[in-house]
Amino acid sequence: MCHCVKMHHFSESLDGKTVLITGANTGLGKETALDCTKRNARVIMACRNLEKADEAAKEIRDATKDSGKNEVVVRELDLSSFKSIRKFCARINEEEPRLDILVNNAGVFRCPSSCTEDGFEMHFGVNHLGHFLLTTLLLDLLKKSAPSRIVVLSSFMYKDARINFDDINCKINYSRTEAYKSSKLANVWFCRELSKRLEGSGVNVYCVNPGIVLTDIMRHSVPQFLRYFDFIFRLCFKTPAQGVQTTLYCILSEKLQNESGYYYSDCRQEDLNSNGLNEDGAKRLWEVSEKAVKSE
Ligand SMILES: NC(=O)c1ccc[n+]([C@@H]2O[C@H](COP(=O)([O-])OP(=O)(O)OC[C@H]3O[C@@H](n4cnc5c(N)ncnc54)[C@H](OP(=O)(O)O)[C@@H]3O)[C@@H](O)[C@H]2O)c1
Repeated sequence: MCHCVKMHHFSESLDGKTVLITGANTGLGKETALDCTKRNARVIMACRNLEKADEAAKEIRDATKDSGKNEVVVRELDLSSFKSIRKFCARINEEEPRLDILVNNAGVFRCPSSCTEDGFEMHFGVNHLGHFLLTTLLLDLLKKSAPSRIVVLSSFMYKDARINFDDINCKINYSRTEAYKSSKLANVWFCRELSKRLEGSGVNVYCVNPGIVLTDIMRHSVPQFLRYFDFIFRLCFKTPAQGVQTTLYCILSEKLQNESGYYYSDCRQEDLNSNGLNEDGAKRLWEVSEKAVKSE
């Protein structure tokens, strides 16, 4: 329940640092962008809908206009298109001298059966594969800026999820909930495998469970009429400000500078269950993902 969520008052500044957040026009991404702007970071909001993103950026600039540098930029990124991801990364790599923190936040939840531009199931394609390609294309910049961090938004729903490598695009069997859960397990496995591959590079990887937060994430799940009763949701769910506490902890905490590849919930490290720790699964997912992003 939201009432017992502790708000942490992190004192760390992000002055001189660049933070890139995917899906920053609403929900947890927007809240993270707001907080990082207040801490004087250069914030890059990577969003698919420029109109919504410009509006959110304006709100953030207005809310932080007295508090420092106010450096918020919007860049177009559609994670359901490899072409868009490549174009986005080419621009970032050309324009940005550094990247200190990458927050893989954007996500779809329980959307109707659909495919990305490149033919992958939407949850797998956006929540995992799109971020897989994005991260690999930004790695050199992150390494150059080390010590740097990659923060990946997963969910407690990884715990009993399955990834069916024989039906990775859910052609045989599609369930909205299972497709989402699989993508969140993919996020956990990606963090584990990536952190191994980055050992010694100065780039650390953190996997975050934000809890249950009242954002736009329910857009495909809650019927319109129930939204009139959102005071009930407010009682049960975390607010976005509460929901980003663990993300901020992973972005900011000095204590975590020697940790990588772990899973965090309520601002502490939490042990992964055997599903999350499945090394063979993580390795296989990496191989499948590498092949998938080359298949354009
Ligand atoms: N809220 C929760 O209870 C909860 C719980 C566990 C984990 N999480 C995770 O937290 C993350 C943020 O969720 P949220 O609650 O803030 O959800 P949200 O309010 O629905 O925001 C999702 C963001 O992702 C963006 N996005 C979706 N598809 C995209 C695409 N193809 N390319 C680029 N951006 C895209 C959305 O853009 P548009 O506005 O243009 O659609 C939006 O900015 C997700 O990864 C989610 O799985 C959330």
